Amino acid sequence: MTACSIEPLSSPAEIDDILAVEQASFTSPWTREMYVAELKNPSVSYFYLARTPEREVIGFCSFWHVLEELHINNLAVLPAHRRLHIGTDLLVRVLADGAKLGARRATLEVRRSNEPAQKLYEKFGFTVAGVRRQYYSNPAEDALVLWRDGLP
Ligand SMILES: CC(C)(COP(=O)(O)OP(=O)(O)OC[C@H]1O[C@@H](n2cnc3c(N)ncnc32)[C@H](O)[C@@H]1OP(=O)(O)O)[C@@H](O)C(=O)NCCC(=O)NCCS
Repeated sequence: MTACSIEPLSSPAEIDDILAVEQASFTSPWTREMYVAELKNPSVSYFYLARTPEREVIGFCSFWHVLEELHINNLAVLPAHRRLHIGTDLLVRVLADGAKLGARRATLEVRRSNEPAQKLYEKFGFTVAGVRRQYYSNPAEDALVLWRDGLP
């Protein structure tokens, strides 16, 4: 298993690292402009990076914290590093730190066809609470809305 560290974003320059993981992972990746806008809202918008011992960024998770809720916006790991529990490490840290911020529940959307992510979230106690029809584009697809109560 790859030994990796999980750390909060420490500099705006690290957006480039996040974008590289985004582009390797999603058909409609968030853009630089979207991330720059998020950084202007540091009391709500959080980013955690997974790094190898050589400091290469191989995964990230971004979320919003609003009162008692966490909204996980993105979670991704570079393809060459998947199935090594890096996504798990990111989620463990994000849910724990979210709880320290005062969150009591977490939500996210996931493509209906994204079984790897759904299996991961299931392990963390997320359950399907609804469907957003045709929420995604490229390709068009429903989103399952998942919730997990009782953080951490
Ligand atoms: C979803 C994603 C972040 C998982 O990251 P990861 O580091 O590979 O996940 P982990 O190694 O922590 O997997 C934990 C568990 O999730 C499940 N899982 C993960 N990937 C899976 C796969 N391809 N097939 C089946 N189950 C899978 C397994 O139960 C796994 O435990 P196990 O390996 O002990 O069997 C990664 O596949 C990814 O970046 N996908 C593309 C981006 C994406 O879809 N993000 C989610 C958006 S909602």
